[in-house]
Amino acid sequence: MRLSKHKQQVNDITLFALDDDPLMVDTLRSYFQGVGFNVDTDTEPLRAIERIREGHYDILILDFLMTPICGDQVVEQIRQFNQDIFIILLTGHKSLAPPIKTIRNFDIQAYYEKSDRFDQLELLVESCVKSIRQMKLIRKHQKDTAQLTEALPELYCQKDPQRLGQTILKTAGSLWSELQGLLLVIVTHRPDNQSPLAVFRSGNLLANFDSPQLPGWLQKMQTVAKDHPKYMFSQLTDPQEQVLGGLLIKLKNPPSPYQSQLFQLFSSQISGVLTNYANTALLNNNYLEMIKAIRKMVDARDIYTSGHSDRVSYLAHRLAMYIGKDDAFCERVRVAGLFHDIGKLAVPDRILLSDQRLEDEDRQIINKHPLYGYNMLESLSLFKNITEIIYSHHERIDGKGYPDGLTGDEIPEEARMITIADAFDAMSSHRRYRQSKTHEEAIEELIRCSGTQFDAEYVKHFIAMLSEDRDAIEADLASLKKAYLQEI
Ligand SMILES: [Fe+2]
Repeated sequence: MRLSKHKQQVNDITLFALDDDPLMVDTLRSYFQGVGFNVDTDTEPLRAIERIREGHYDILILDFLMTPICGDQVVEQIRQFNQDIFIILLTGHKSLAPPIKTIRNFDIQAYYEKSDRFDQLELLVESCVKSIRQMKLIRKHQKDTAQLTEALPELYCQKDPQRLGQTILKTAGSLWSELQGLLLVIVTHRPDNQSPLAVFRSGNLLANFDSPQLPGWLQKMQTVAKDHPKYMFSQLTDPQEQVLGGLLIKLKNPPSPYQSQLFQLFSSQISGVLTNYANTALLNNNYLEMIKAIRKMVDARDIYTSGHSDRVSYLAHRLAMYIGKDDAFCERVRVAGLFHDIGKLAVPDRILLSDQRLEDEDRQIINKHPLYGYNMLESLSLFKNITEIIYSHHERIDGKGYPDGLTGDEIPEEARMITIADAFDAMSSHRRYRQSKTHEEAIEELIRCSGTQFDAEYVKHFIAMLSEDRDAIEADLASLKKAYLQEI
C-alpha cells in the first residue's frame, strides 16, 4: 500500500513528530500530511510525552539528540505507559545512532538517518502502517471473539423463541458496528414444515420477504446475498445438516475478508445455539408427553375423579402465580399438582374404588399414597424437585395430617398450595359417595379449616384469586374437564 503523494487523503493512522528543531517538525508535518496522515507535532520532549500519554497516536517519529532529554530517554518514559506506539528514531548521522541494545530494549521499530529526502522514511512509515493494521485486526478479532463468547451463555439458556431471536439480533448488532439490516429466520424443531417458526428483522433490507413458504425465504435470502455485495447469508443447520434457519445481514460497505470470517464464525455459533434450542424443545415435548401418559393412568382408575389432577395443577399453579412466586416455583407446583396422587396407582381397586366407608386397615393403606408416590418418582431425575411436595400433600398445618404429622412451615410451601387446590376441587366434584358442593360451600369449608388443615394465608389468597377472576377460572376448569372427557 503505497500512498500517492499527489492524492491528499486522511487515513486512520495518526502520526506524532517530535524534534527540537521547529523547521524539521514543520517539514515532517507537511510531508506526511501530504501523503494522507493525521499529524501532530511538538518541539518539547517532556511536553510531547504528556501529550502522547493523553492522546492516541499510532506512530512516533522523534529525533535522537534533543534537550533537555534525548530521544532514547523519551522512548524509555513512553514505553512505561504505552507498548503499542510504533517508534522511528531519527539520527543526524550514522555515527550518532543509539546503540542497537537501546533500540531493542525500548522496542524501537526503526531508526532513520536524516536527509533532505523523505522517500525512505515514508517507506519505513508504510511498513509500520502494515504492522499496525495487522495488529488492529488481531485485536479486533480477539475482542469480537470474546464478545461472542460472552454472549453465548445467554443465548444457550433462552427457552422462548422470541427472546432467543432478540438476543441473537442484539449480539449481531454489537459485533458489526456497520450493520444496516438483519434478517433471521428460525425453524428449529419443525425442520420439515413449510413456514418459518419465527422471523426477526431489523433495519432496511432490499427484498420483500413475504413468501409464507420456508424454502422461498431461504432462497430469496441467498439470492439477495449473491446479487448484492453488501449482504452476507448463511444457512443455519444442525450437525446432521438439518436446516434450522437462515441469517442474512447487510453492512454499510461490502464485507472485508475479516468481516466474512466473523460472519461464518457467528453463524456456526448460532447454529449451535439453535441446535441446542431444538433439542431442548424436543426433550420438553417428550417430557410433557410422558407426564400426560402417566397422569392419565392415575385419573383413569376412577371416573369420578377424572381430570382432578389437571384441575389441582391448574388451581395451585394459578395460586402460586397470584402470590407472585418465581417461575421455577410455579413450575414445581404445576407438575406436582399433576402428579400429587400418582401413589394411588399402588392402592388396590377394592380400596380405591370402594363405595363403603373404609375400615381402618384400608384407610391406612390409602393414606400411604403420598409415600408410594414419593417412591415411584424418587429415582427419576426429572421429578427430583417435586417428590417432597408429593410426599407432603396431605399434611395439615395443625400437625394432624399424614404421613409425618408435620406442622406449619415444616410443610413445603408448594404442598400447602396443592392441599388447598386439592380440597377445593374434591369438594366441588361429584364423588360416588356424595354430591358436589357449590363453590361458595367449598370456600366456606376452606375458611372453616383455615389455620388447622390449611395454611391461613394461602386460603386468603386463594379466595381473593377466585373472587377476582371467578368467571375465567370457572371457564378454564370447565374446559379442562371437557378436554379430559374428550381424550378418554
Ligand atoms: Fe392425595
